[in-house]
Amino acid sequence: MSEGAWTAIDEYVAEQLIGDDAALDAALAASAEAGLPAIAVSPPQGKLLHLLARSIRARSVLEIGTLGGYSTIWLARAVGEQGRVLSLEADARYAGVARANIARAGFAETVEVRVGPALDTLALIAAEGPAPFDLVFIDADKVNTPEYFRWALPRTRPGGLIVADNVIRGGTIGDPQSGDPGGLAARRLHEMLHGEPRVSATTIQTVGLKGYDGFTLMLVE
Ligand SMILES: C[S@@+](CC[C@H](N)C(=O)[O-])C[C@H]1O[C@@H](n2cnc3c(N)ncnc32)[C@H](O)[C@@H]1O
Repeated sequence: MSEGAWTAIDEYVAEQLIGDDAALDAALAASAEAGLPAIAVSPPQGKLLHLLARSIRARSVLEIGTLGGYSTIWLARAVGEQGRVLSLEADARYAGVARANIARAGFAETVEVRVGPALDTLALIAAEGPAPFDLVFIDADKVNTPEYFRWALPRTRPGGLIVADNVIRGGTIGDPQSGDPGGLAARRLHEMLHGEPRVSATTIQTVGLKGYDGFTLMLVE
């Protein structure tokens, strides 16, 4: 099966299970209009994040990598009126587009977007002594995914989830000689998870309109 077929099937799934969604469609359109790269999660993936957050009754979500706020809106829809989503973005212009998209979707009070390199922002957040997060979605610069996981693990409640996106990377995770820094980082993440008693994890390979990739799902024990 070709990449074209994966895309067509993602579109079919989205049509049947998601349908027209004015806020999400507007967020994608405004992001494209502003010249943001088309690297948001796909609609079925966004809905998966939403369902994961709802299934653990997440109220406090940390997202690392906002882009135009597409996945952020999916997550904000899951946390309820009292819930909060904190989303970190390095690029101030992207963050501006995201804030507008999030406000248009009705979540200006639910979501805070903080600008800056996430490792710096996370150090500031740690100093604030945050309450444990229910769900952490790692989707920023892939080389730092292991570091984001290291930060998130002690700050996610037992029964909470950490999700890392883009860990398969067209298969480069399987080749230590690939030269892909993101693939090597995904391998480091798996080496950290190997024998790590504080989480139970698995990685799922995916195909779809984002090509061949996958995500790691980590349940905090
Ligand atoms: C894959 S995109 C996020 C997509 C978004 N989660 C979605 O699905 O709608 C990755 C984002 O991480 C941001 N980013 C890259 N390096 C970063 C860093 N060091 N700190 C924070 N954000 C970073 C990029 O600017 C980009 O907007």
